[in-house]
Amino acid sequence: MAILKHRTRRLRLHSGLRDLIRETSLSPSKLCLPVFVRKGKNIRISHPSVPGITTYSVDTLLTYLKEIEELKIPFILVFGVSDEKDDQGSAALDRDGPVVRAIQAIRSRFPELIIGTDIALDPYTSHGHDGLFDGKQILNDETVDVLCEMSLLHAKAGAHILAPSDMMDGRIGAIRKTLEEGGFKDRSILAYTAKYASCLYGPFRDTLNARVSGDKKSYQMDPANRREALRELELDLDEGADMVMVKPASWFLDIIADFKRTEVNAPIAAYQVSGECAMIEMGARQGLFHRELAIYESALSIFRAGADILVTYFASDLAKLSRMK
Ligand code: PBG
Repeated sequence: MAILKHRTRRLRLHSGLRDLIRETSLSPSKLCLPVFVRKGKNIRISHPSVPGITTYSVDTLLTYLKEIEELKIPFILVFGVSDEKDDQGSAALDRDGPVVRAIQAIRSRFPELIIGTDIALDPYTSHGHDGLFDGKQILNDETVDVLCEMSLLHAKAGAHILAPSDMMDGRIGAIRKTLEEGGFKDRSILAYTAKYASCLYGPFRDTLNARVSGDKKSYQMDPANRREALRELELDLDEGADMVMVKPASWFLDIIADFKRTEVNAPIAAYQVSGECAMIEMGARQGLFHRELAIYESALSIFRAGADILVTYFASDLAKLSRMK
C-alpha cells in the first residue's frame, strides 16, 4: 500500500465537503437577461434558431417580466426589433418606439428592476451594420453622434444602464459627456469593451432580421487577438465606463481572466451569446449531454474565469438551478 502525503480526493469525499471547498457559486443576483421588444400588441414570437429567445410587444413583455422578477433576476438588457429599416437607422431615435415605451412601462411597473439598453444601430439599419455606412466604410464619428442621441433618449425614458455594443472609437467618452451634460449623471455605462467579430451571433441576427452586408471586422475585434483587448479595456475605463464586458464568453475565457488579472476596479460582465446558448440547447436535444448540467457548467466556467456578471438567455434556467442548490 502506498503511503501518500497528498490525497486530493480527501476533500471530495462527500457532498458537504465539496460544498465547503467550492470556489465558485451561482447566484441570481449576478445575472442579466436580454429581452427583445417590437411594435404591436399581444406579440410573442419565438425563434427556432435561438431556443428560448422570444420577441415581445410591450404588453406581453410586462407579463413575462413578472416571472423574471419572481426569479430574482435583477437586471435586463432591452433590445429593439424593428421592421422599419433604412440606411441611417432612423428608427433608433424614434421617441415613440417600442424600446422607449418598454423602458417607461418597466420603470413604473417594476421599479426594482435594473434596466439596461443596447446602444447600436443594427436593428434599424437596412445594411445591418451597427453604424452609419457610406457603402464602403462604417463612419465612426458620425455614428458616435447618433449613439449619443440614442443614449440620451433611453436615459430620458428611464434606463439605468446604457450598453453600447457597436465598437466605435471614442463612443464611451462621448456618451459619458452627453449624459453628464444632459443631466443624467447617475446613469451607468456598460461598455462592450472586448467584442469580437464572432460567428456566434448568427441566431441573434436572425432574431433581429439583421442581415449584414459584408462583415463587422472593421469595428469588432479579431478573435485571434488577446493583448488588443487590454488596450480596449484601458481606453473604455479612461473614457468613463462603469462596467466592462467581454463577448462572446465561452470561447474567450482567457480574455475574461486577463481583465480579472489586471485588477480593474470595475465590474466585469460576460455575454453568453445566442450561438453559445443555441449550441447547448441543440446538443442537449440530440441527447449529447444533460441540458441543465451543461447550462450550469457553462455559467460556472464563465464566473470561474473572472466574470462578475453574466448576461445570458439562460438566466431564468440558471436562477431556478441556483435556487435549488
Ligand atoms: C449588435 C449586437 C449583436 C449582439 C448584441 N448586440 C450582434 C452583432 O454584433 O452582430 C449579439 C448577441 C447574441 O448573439 O446573442 N449591436
